[in-house]
Amino acid sequence: MATRTIRCILTGLGNIGRTLLEILPARAARLRDRYGVTLEFVAVADSSGCITCPAGLDTAAVVACKRQRRGVVELAGGDIQTASAMTVVEQGAADILLEATPTDIRTGQPGLSLVRTALQRGLHVVMASKGALVVDFDALAQLSDWSGNLQRPRLRFSGAVAGALPSVNLGWRDLAGGEIYAIEAVLNGTTQVMLTLMGEGKTYAEALAEAQRIGIAEPDPTLDVEGWDTANKLLILANAVLRQPTRLDDIVVEGITKVTPDDIHQARRNGGRLVLLAKAERGADGRYALSVRPTAVPAGHPLAQLGQQEAGIVYQSDIFGRTTALSLEDGPVGTAAAMLRDILSIAPDIHR
Ligand SMILES: NC(=O)c1ccc[n+]([C@@H]2O[C@H](COP(=O)([O-])OP(=O)(O)OC[C@H]3O[C@@H](n4cnc5c(N)ncnc54)[C@H](OP(=O)(O)O)[C@@H]3O)[C@@H](O)[C@H]2O)c1
Repeated sequence: MATRTIRCILTGLGNIGRTLLEILPARAARLRDRYGVTLEFVAVADSSGCITCPAGLDTAAVVACKRQRRGVVELAGGDIQTASAMTVVEQGAADILLEATPTDIRTGQPGLSLVRTALQRGLHVVMASKGALVVDFDALAQLSDWSGNLQRPRLRFSGAVAGALPSVNLGWRDLAGGEIYAIEAVLNGTTQVMLTLMGEGKTYAEALAEAQRIGIAEPDPTLDVEGWDTANKLLILANAVLRQPTRLDDIVVEGITKVTPDDIHQARRNGGRLVLLAKAERGADGRYALSVRPTAVPAGHPLAQLGQQEAGIVYQSDIFGRTTALSLEDGPVGTAAAMLRDILSIAPDIHR
């Protein structure tokens, strides 16, 4: 099979970006033989700056540098130049931007400017970060193939909505042609762990401390426990899959901060389960009502079976019926893998 080299710019070298670089070498032969693809990293960026090498960077050296918690600009020298990430996105010889910087849902930055510029220039984009999608989905969609114009660059973000869980792709690609009546989903790891632990007898504070100890909850868990992380993901599903222009204000959001052990036990009494449920329900007017709320799902509901570290999504549609995906994920590999699947899904569309 003829192979094509895809030249990548990777912004963000934290859990996700670094893990993506780590999982690739063992897969290089598979990517070449099965998909006809070789990935070459021509630039990578972290908070210290951006380094670039047109012939391709040594990704093992980048991984080693980040594992030592050093700034990637320390690798500059010889063939490796420093430049701003924006300059590389504007001018570098590349095919695709892989975006994995932190999510800022107020400004969308730094991802928003990078992604917008990349798309305007005709680079394809794969995102793990959510900020730019939350702040300006519509503008990014217009610049990309989501506009309906397949001459425009591809924009993919399947890892941004619960990592490995095929939440976006299932609704957008695999239910194509169907009319979606409803989405129900559990999309946040921290709250799923906490509600499970509270069901086993821990208090809210103990459950939060445990979720932080195992590294699933941030030191500041506000976005998770107050439901905003789930709302961000529902916003992306609403815009991308349901095609309903949606902003955060359009979603009714209630987190788990007021949930008591009693609420959890009551849900369990009949075999059901209390989860932080993201829900989209189509009304008679064709519009979807969007909410994030602690909800008792009944026994027999697919989301009542979720384990402590599982995420899940259930679509109801006219011609496909009920379609469910569940995913058990531990750590950042699932999201890095989602970036890889997005790259491979658009690889056939990448022409020089
Ligand atoms: N972690 C998950 O399981 C998960 C799941 C789904 C989606 N996501 C999303 O994926 C993104 C990355 O997550 P993560 O866990 O990898 O975050 P992280 O560990 O905090 O890493 C963020 C990376 O971005 C770099 N960075 C910060 N500001 C930058 C800037 N202005 N320009 C370029 N690079 C910059 C950081 O640099 P330094 O290395 O110098 O600090 C770091 O390498 C986030 O948007 C997150 O919401 C994460």
